[in-house]
Amino acid sequence: MTVNNKAVGIIGVGSYLPEKIVTNADLEKVVETSDEWIFERTGIKERRVADGDTATSDIAAKAAEMALADAGITAEEIDLIIVATVTPDMSFPSVACLVQDRLKAKNAAAFDLSAACSGFTYGMVVASSFIKSGVYKKVLVIGAETLSKIIDWEDRNTCILFGDGAGAAVLGQVEDGYGILGVELGADGSGGDLLKVPAGGSRQPTSIETCNNKLHFIHMNGNEVFKFAVKVMGEAAVKALDDAGLDPESIDCLIPHQANIRIIQSAAKRLKVPMDKVVVNVDKYGNTSAASIPIALAETVKSGRVKKGDIVVLVGFGAGLTWASCVLKWCKGD
Ligand code: UT7
Repeated sequence: MTVNNKAVGIIGVGSYLPEKIVTNADLEKVVETSDEWIFERTGIKERRVADGDTATSDIAAKAAEMALADAGITAEEIDLIIVATVTPDMSFPSVACLVQDRLKAKNAAAFDLSAACSGFTYGMVVASSFIKSGVYKKVLVIGAETLSKIIDWEDRNTCILFGDGAGAAVLGQVEDGYGILGVELGADGSGGDLLKVPAGGSRQPTSIETCNNKLHFIHMNGNEVFKFAVKVMGEAAVKALDDAGLDPESIDCLIPHQANIRIIQSAAKRLKVPMDKVVVNVDKYGNTSAASIPIALAETVKSGRVKKGDIVVLVGFGAGLTWASCVLKWCKGD
């Protein structure tokens, strides 16, 4: 990705997960399912669920505070806040504006970005473009979701999959030769019907009928989304690596969207990346949509698993349909 010679990378990361854990055993009491089915088909053992009073901006702000502390900068130094989410507190104002107020990031512009589970990586590319072009110096990108609020807890096809959480990264200029080396963003809107919340927008405004018909919950064709994911994850990572002038053998750490362990394993197999180089936390958190990659990234960085100079590849897919991948030469730490 060459706009000018400025190297742009991640200078701070943070994540926040609600405390409440819902296990597969808990779900056995709610729908006809089993711990065995859920774990075998998805790799998920448990997920986090926000309490009734907690909205997406609350957990987004917590992850953001950690990312700012990790970057060693104040909120006032942030020029732009981008929040990737499909579960905003409300239609408007944006979650980004609510977070800007919470952080007292008074010098920051703010907007939300809608690319579902690909949203954080889309946000990184947007942030990087702003920095490379010289418009902004430091951009806070957050992926945050309270999917528990838009799940039909009586639908076993979806309620077992999703969880709540938030992850954040501060992007800024880094040492030459480090940071974002290659990107790939894509979309196929013809697959929009495969994964959506049908009502609550201008197509089907909220009414008693839409509520009675459960049209404000996630509706998904799981099998078709699975097939799309298996195809696109490997392809997107290869294109981003190609953009960086690298091949899959150079990957030191693969951070895939955490939707299903079988999708992750299939992407790793296509890329010929051994699983010990792949970050997996879907067992603990389920699918947290836009938050999944930044949470996994923050946990990986905190654990010391990535070293300066490592090639780190982020890759995800989601509703839209969308996909996104970003190749980084890691620049923080030793
Ligand atoms: O971020 C993107 C979000 N979405 C995704 O990533 C979803 C991608 N898709 C998937 O992960 C998988 O398709 C699922 C995990 C959703 C489903 O797994 P699957 O292996 O594709 O199962 P299936 O939908 O083909 O269902 C197999 C059987 C069906 O029963 P019959 O028709 O064979 O009798 C389902 O009714 O399993 C049944 N089933 C369940 N059984 C127990 C579906 N959900 C459950 C459940 N517990 N929770």
